[in-house]
Parts: sequence; structure tokens; C-alpha cells
Amino acid sequence: MAIRQSDKKYLAGSEEALPLEIKNSKGSYIYDINDKMYIDFLSGWCVGNVGWGNNVLKKAIQEYEGPAYVYPGLSYKPWEDLAQLLAEISPGKLSKSFRTTGGSESVDTALQIAMAYTGRKRFLSLENSYHGNIISSLSIGSSETVDKVNNHLQGCDRVGLPLDEKTLKKIETSLKKKTVAAFIMEPVICNMGVVIPENKFMQDLERLCRKYGTLMIIDEVATGFGRTGKLFASEHFGIEPDIMCISKAITGGYAGLGATVTTEKIEKAVRDKVNIYSTYGWHPLSVHVALTNIRHLKKNNILENVNYLSNIFSEALSSMKFKSKEEIRIIGLAIAVDLGDSRYAEKIRKKCLKEGLLLGIQEKSIVLFPALNMEEKTAREGLGILEKCL
Ligand SMILES: Cc1ncc(COP(=O)(O)O)c(C=O)c1O
Repeated sequence: MAIRQSDKKYLAGSEEALPLEIKNSKGSYIYDINDKMYIDFLSGWCVGNVGWGNNVLKKAIQEYEGPAYVYPGLSYKPWEDLAQLLAEISPGKLSKSFRTTGGSESVDTALQIAMAYTGRKRFLSLENSYHGNIISSLSIGSSETVDKVNNHLQGCDRVGLPLDEKTLKKIETSLKKKTVAAFIMEPVICNMGVVIPENKFMQDLERLCRKYGTLMIIDEVATGFGRTGKLFASEHFGIEPDIMCISKAITGGYAGLGATVTTEKIEKAVRDKVNIYSTYGWHPLSVHVALTNIRHLKKNNILENVNYLSNIFSEALSSMKFKSKEEIRIIGLAIAVDLGDSRYAEKIRKKCLKEGLLLGIQEKSIVLFPALNMEEKTAREGLGILEKCL
């Protein structure tokens, strides 16, 4: 409890920490200060996709011999290497990377690019979405959060769920005015309890954006790097975003790094209009880890394991007797059980934590984001704990 008391004294922030004081983590397990072991079904909210303390990443860090730091105004070959690798793996024509430190900055960069490219100032997003914690990303997030912050971007409009024909009509009405610089969404909405759009919705959305000159920003900060069974969730829908935001699992949790990836055409057009760089954007050690991590993800059969495990989770969750269950939403290892009751979801999380299982909640759902390389035995053990806690 020592940390939690000093939390209040020196650490700012409104959310109270969960009663788990972490000492270490390894693979799919977290250890608290009393060496109690927890199975991790959260992965730091889509960060630890290759498991904690992954040997490949650990070794890369231990053996790193590059510069301590590189001033953003200099050249550095590994920056080019990482940008090239991202161009190779990104959907469609995305091939130019802006260097950022994390998710929110990647989103902010995307908004700046869209404004500069289109000469427009408005944005359209999904009601209740989450794209980060800085003024710009809060402005395109849920209205409730925006209302709490007085100073935010002007001209941010939202459309609500469901993602259907009616909503597309509302989107078209807004885009028709040709004042919207960009539409932004997560391709699979992890931050709304794993909402999975239909192919047709995403393809029609892309068509509408193209028709009215609005850029399509896809926020893959949570979904990127294998979470949904593809390297990027956009691939499920065959869409070609104009701008993609990435971060989180790009380094497997070992270092902070993000990127905003856009097309050559857009980058060329905004090159002299925006001046985006940040002091710690693409720190050399983070770049080294990201390169190692992406090559590791590509080389090994980690994505195959995602689909195998996904079936195990799907079957096990379907057979569990939840007191209330509206829907199970699962794609790869982005998993939500919508219980239709936030108090029940919170109760389950608390009970699971006591029994040694860490999972997440999102409004009325429990959400699970296990490591992509989790062993089947561990997955079944964690599912067993969950079932016991219902
Ligand atoms: C979809 C999405 N976008 C952006 C962010 C913000 O990322 P960061 O916390 O690295 O700024 C998050 C963080 O949870 C996220 O899930």
C-alpha cells in the first residue's frame, strides 16, 4: 500500500490506481510486491503484444550501442530504416512517417496534416470515442470529456453508433458541406468496447471521404501490430487510409514511440506548411526496439497464434454463464463481453483481480487484450479464473 499512499501525495491524476502494486512482469504474468502472480489479460491496453520481458527485445536493448540521443535536425540512418519498414507494412499508399513520441501526438500530427492539406478546419469523429489525452485529441473524443475541458478545438462534430446506413447518411450530410478536413476513427473501436464495423460500412465511409475531399484518418494506436489478427486492423476491410496513427505495441512496451504515416502525395503537399518534430520523437533507443519488434512480429508465426487463441477465447466465453450478457465481440485478440451493466463489469474485474487475473473494463463491457503469443495453457487458466468469478 505504500505506493498508493504516496500516489496521493506526489502523483497527480484523478483515477485511483487498481489495488495491484507491480514489482515485475514476465511473459503473460505480472508479479506484485508480495510476489503474488497475476495472469495479464490486458497487456497494458494493447501495448505488450509480444509478452512482457520478451527476450528478443530485452537482448536488443542490452546490446544497443548507438548514440544516446540524436537531435531531430540531424540525419540518422535507423530513422530511415524504420520509416522504410513502416512503409512496407502499412496499408495502401501509406509510405511517409512523421516521428512522434506516442499516440496522442500521432493523432495531433494527423489533424495538423489534414488541416494543412485540405485548408479546412472541421473534424468529424464518433461520439464516445477516445483518441488521446491532449487538447486536440480530447476535442475529437467523447462530448462528455470535451465538456470538462473549456479550451478545445472549434468545429469538431460527432456521429453516434451504430455504424450503419443511417449513420453513413449523417456522415454524408456533414461531408457534403466540404468543410470537414478529416474523419477519424479506430478501425476496430477498442476504446468503445471492441466495436467491429462491417466491411461495407468502412468501404462506404472511405468512398464518401474521397467523394467530398475529406481525409480518412485511421487511429491504429490500439489495434496496430497484430491485435486483431492482422498487422493493422484496416487490412480486414481492404481500406486505404490517408493517414494512420500508430504507437503502443510498436515497441512492445519497452520504449515510447509513435508515428503518423501518410501518403507521398499528402506529405509533399504539406511539407512546407507544417513543421512537425518533437525532442524525443523517435529516440534512437526506441527506434532500435521498434525495428527489432516489428521484424520479430513479421518473422515469427505470432499472427497465426492470434487466430488460434481467438477461437479458444471465443468458445470459452460463449459457454460461460454471465448473469447478463448482451454480446461477445471478438476479432483476433481484441475481445469484449458486453454485459449491458457497468456495475456488474466492475464487480467481475475486482473479483478477478483478487483471484489473480487482470482484465479491463470499458463502460458496460469487460475487455480482454491478452498477449498475442500467450500460451494456450495460460489462456485457459485465465479463462478458468474468469468463469469462477462470475
Ligand atoms: C486509439 C487510441 N488513440 C490514441 C491514444 C493515446 O495514446 P497515448 O496514451 O500514447 O498518448 C490511445 C491510448 O489509449 C488510444 O487507445
